Amino acid sequence: MSSVAEEPYREGLEGVIANETAIANLEGREGSGGLEYRGYRIEDLAGNVSYEETAFLLLHGDLPTRAQLREFDSRLRASRDLPAPLVQLFREIPETAHPMDVIRTSVSVLAHFDPDVNAPPTDHAANVRKAERLVAQMPTAVAFRERIVNGNAPIAPRADLDHAANFLNMVNGKMPSPTMSSAFDLSLVLYTEHELNASTFSARVTVSTLSDLHSGIVAAIGTLKGPLHGGANEEAWKVLEEVGSPENALKWIEDALAQKRRIMGFGHRVYKTGDPRSRILKPHCAALAAEIGDDRWERIAEPIEQIVTTQKHLPPNVDWPSARLYHYMGLDIDLYTPIFAMARVAGWAAHIIEQLDHNRLMRPRARYIGPPNRPVKPLDAR
Ligand code: SDX
Repeated sequence: MSSVAEEPYREGLEGVIANETAIANLEGREGSGGLEYRGYRIEDLAGNVSYEETAFLLLHGDLPTRAQLREFDSRLRASRDLPAPLVQLFREIPETAHPMDVIRTSVSVLAHFDPDVNAPPTDHAANVRKAERLVAQMPTAVAFRERIVNGNAPIAPRADLDHAANFLNMVNGKMPSPTMSSAFDLSLVLYTEHELNASTFSARVTVSTLSDLHSGIVAAIGTLKGPLHGGANEEAWKVLEEVGSPENALKWIEDALAQKRRIMGFGHRVYKTGDPRSRILKPHCAALAAEIGDDRWERIAEPIEQIVTTQKHLPPNVDWPSARLYHYMGLDIDLYTPIFAMARVAGWAAHIIEQLDHNRLMRPRARYIGPPNRPVKPLDAR
């Protein structure tokens, strides 16, 4: 083993291989942009499988048969309800609390009421059951808090609705259009998994100490919140609001780049020639804009996307189109990242389970650059 002084230091762990995984591949076949979930190209999954099928793929290793999907889906629908104390807590938490902080708290509270809470952390079957329950419960938690904090009664989950439509109905109090529901389901599929991004890495480090699945998910939510990661979809919407009108777009972006501002929703640590998820989502933004009869935001977004892509060579990432998509669905801005979290929970859980199935404690080293060795002076001599 070489010494700490000899090992290369890569700031932000850029390019460091910290895990092996069978869950997602960002180096997929040429031309696919690279993203594959357990060998399936994201372009082939998108629009052809539901979020439920995607979550099953990640948690159980392959796409479900019709019988497997029926059983999985009925387990999810039966697990959507929340323990009463958590619903009461939504009424006590200050209104000013950000929904990402509330969903982080929610997962912590849900752990106390999970029937497998005392299972050994490496109990694979128990971890899959815990993961399935969180996939089902997190949308209810996000929706219930949203309703309560806006002075409305929570709307109970409906067993006759699929994952996407049920969430939109719980939040908006009305059934989404088929276009809206399928676009939302697609966004969940695209958000589900993305290899060793910061929040997934955080989850894996947490459980590598043999801590439990819920602790790993709480750590991941706290990590996802940051604007350099999941919080970017909320910030991307604020960019569009700040621009305000299509006529203002060119001047705004030229000024922003001149001021060296970081344009949220653009750039990626891994994708340097574009995020396939952004390309897949973009046409759905235009379709929903047409459905609601307001293409203003598309006409604001396009020149910004063109300029940042061509002048900064920073293509849009998944957060750039998803911000507009969620606006068209009537969702409040501060729900955008919680939605990312409730989709990604299946990916986080799959990585946690993979880590615990074949674990080694993660403990990197740091290179010391502080003061050289020196004697301790008595207090009065300092
Ligand atoms: C997600 O990792 C994943 O897989 C994450 C994710 C997932 O599914 O889990 O894909 C989800 O987090 C997507 C990314 C969302 N974040 C944003 O949209 C925030 C804005 N983007 C940036 O902050 C940035 O692009 C990152 C954080 C995404 C990646 O940054 P890196 O690889 O650390 O690159 P960097 O910050 O070192 O920037 C390199 C250069 C810098 O310029 P110089 O100082 O060298 O002149 O590129 C510039 C940066 O200033 N730059 C940008 C920019 N992103 C990078 N300049 C303007 N706007 C930007 N968005």
